[in-house]
Amino acid sequence: APRVLSGIQPTADSFTLGNYLGALRQWVSMQDDHDAFYCVVDLHAITVEQDPAVLRRRTLVAAAQLIALGVDPASSTLFVQSHVPEHAQLGWVMQCLTGFGEASRMTQFKDKSQRQGAGSTSVGLFTYPVLQAADILLYQAERVPVGEDQRQHVELTRDLATRFNGRYGATFTLPEAYIPPGAAKVLDLQTPEKQMSKSLPPSGGVFLLDDPKVTAKKIRSAVTDTGREVVADPVGKPGVTNLLAIHSALSGRSTAELEEHFTGRGYGDLKKELAEVVTDHLAPVQARTTELLADTAELERVLAAGAARAREVAAPVLADVYAKVGFLPPA
Ligand code: TYM
Repeated sequence: APRVLSGIQPTADSFTLGNYLGALRQWVSMQDDHDAFYCVVDLHAITVEQDPAVLRRRTLVAAAQLIALGVDPASSTLFVQSHVPEHAQLGWVMQCLTGFGEASRMTQFKDKSQRQGAGSTSVGLFTYPVLQAADILLYQAERVPVGEDQRQHVELTRDLATRFNGRYGATFTLPEAYIPPGAAKVLDLQTPEKQMSKSLPPSGGVFLLDDPKVTAKKIRSAVTDTGREVVADPVGKPGVTNLLAIHSALSGRSTAELEEHFTGRGYGDLKKELAEVVTDHLAPVQARTTELLADTAELERVLAAGAARAREVAAPVLADVYAKVGFLPPA
């Protein structure tokens, strides 16, 4: 089966609808016909300051949410990035292959560092995409299910793989981003010019573990426009278009079908119905997450087994890389 790898940062108490529709739903659907590796990327999380106890807790909650959403540890390898030291090790080799200018062109770095200010931007934030490349290449992944915002990082990964292969001989598989057509970029409900984010303000973000009342309220107060007609128009009506896209992704009904369904009705009706669709979807996920978190020892066992399986694949790839770059093997 083709290999797939993806990761998610444990940088919030809960994932968002953007994470779910843009990436996690594809993680779940791909695990049946792929050899899937999914990781909670805690090394990436510390590229911005984290409280240690909070990070530890969020890593567990992240794993619980992934399982609750349908990632099955029996068919996918689910693990925590820092449990597999090969990620950081290959990350270093990849850093030495990356041009400074090349890394400087990463738009996510430019955005994030601008927001943080130069004084508090870490070098880790700068090399973040290079570590991500190592995550992907360590498993020889062919497909990487992510949202649109990660396309550039997967392109960088391909460039680095090509460079390594050219310099040291065929080693890495070139991965392809697998980006869903409908919900590749879910927008923030309060600021529909921006993508919904789990860790950055503005937070018109819909969080998977939020109380249903909070979620319904967020959807009811979503920013739309002064028009009345419920029709998709990404330029003129980004807010309404985003709500329709979320509805469509969750209900499985096409945008055209939804426009028809809401003919003669206003934004209020759309929001009311969407709130129901979303909270109905999330109720079982929340219940299952709570159940899983009631037994963290079991969750930790699952993650330990995942890390052991991941290392079986990662260790020989790293050993091959070390040999190829000319490191003297330890006697
Ligand atoms: P993270 O944690 O920021 O996001 C996790 C996934 O959710 C997607 N996503 C969205 N998709 C659509 N609309 C949105 N509003 C939205 N917000 C987030 C992201 O595209 C991502 O797929 N750099 C990665 C983490 C990572 C990784 C990897 C991914 C580290 N190593 C290796 C793939 C392969 C990230 O952005 O995580």
